[in-house]
Amino acid sequence: MGEAGVVVAASVAAAPALAAIHAAAFPPGAAWDAVAFGAQLRLPGAFAFLDARGGMILARVAGGEGEVLTLAVAPAARRLGVARGLLERALAEAVSRGAASVFLEVGAGNQAARGLYEGVGFGVVGRRARYYADGEDAVVMRWGVSVP
Ligand SMILES: CC(C)(COP(=O)(O)OP(=O)(O)OC[C@H]1O[C@@H](n2cnc3c(N)ncnc32)[C@H](O)[C@@H]1OP(=O)(O)O)[C@@H](O)C(=O)NCCC(=O)NCCS
Repeated sequence: MGEAGVVVAASVAAAPALAAIHAAAFPPGAAWDAVAFGAQLRLPGAFAFLDARGGMILARVAGGEGEVLTLAVAPAARRLGVARGLLERALAEAVSRGAASVFLEVGAGNQAARGLYEGVGFGVVGRRARYYADGEDAVVMRWGVSVP
C-alpha cells in the first residue's frame, strides 16, 4: 500500500500534471499529452489519481466493468510502492462506482508492470497479437471483486 494521504483525486485541471508524469515514464512518442488526458477525463465514468512523489493512474468504469487506461511512475519514484498504492486506490474507486471486475492491457514483455498487476490479484485472461505500435503483443488481465 502507498503511504497514506499522498494520493489525491485528479480532475481535468490536473491534466498537465498527469501528462508530465507520463512523459517522464514513457519513451518519447508513447506518452499522452495534456490534451489527451483532458479528453479522457471528460469521458463518462473516468477518474484519475496522482501521487505527489511522481505517479499517476487513469481509469474508467462503464456498465459495471472497470478499465485501467494508463499507469505511470517517474523513474526517480520507482520501487517505493507508488504504483501499487495508486492501483489499490483506483480498484477501490472502481468498486465504489459499481465495477465487479477491472480489465487492462499490458505489454507482454513488461515484467515490472505484470509483476505489479499479479501482486494485487490480476490474472491473464487473453492475449492480443501485435497490439502496440512497435509490434509487441499485449496481454489482457482481469481483477475481480472477491465474493465472500
Ligand atoms: C510499472 C510501473 C508503473 C511500476 O511502478 P512502481 O511505483 O515502481 O511499482 P511499485 O513500487 O508499486 O512496485 C510494486 C510491485 O511491482 C513489481 N515491480 C515493480 N517494478 C518492477 C521491476 N522493475 N522489476 C520487477 N518487478 C517490478 C514488484 O512486484 C513490486 O513489488 P516489490 O517492490 O515489493 O517487489 C513503473 O515501472 C512505470 O511507470 N513503468 C513505465 C510505464 C509502464 O510500464 N506502465 C504500466 C503499463 S501501462
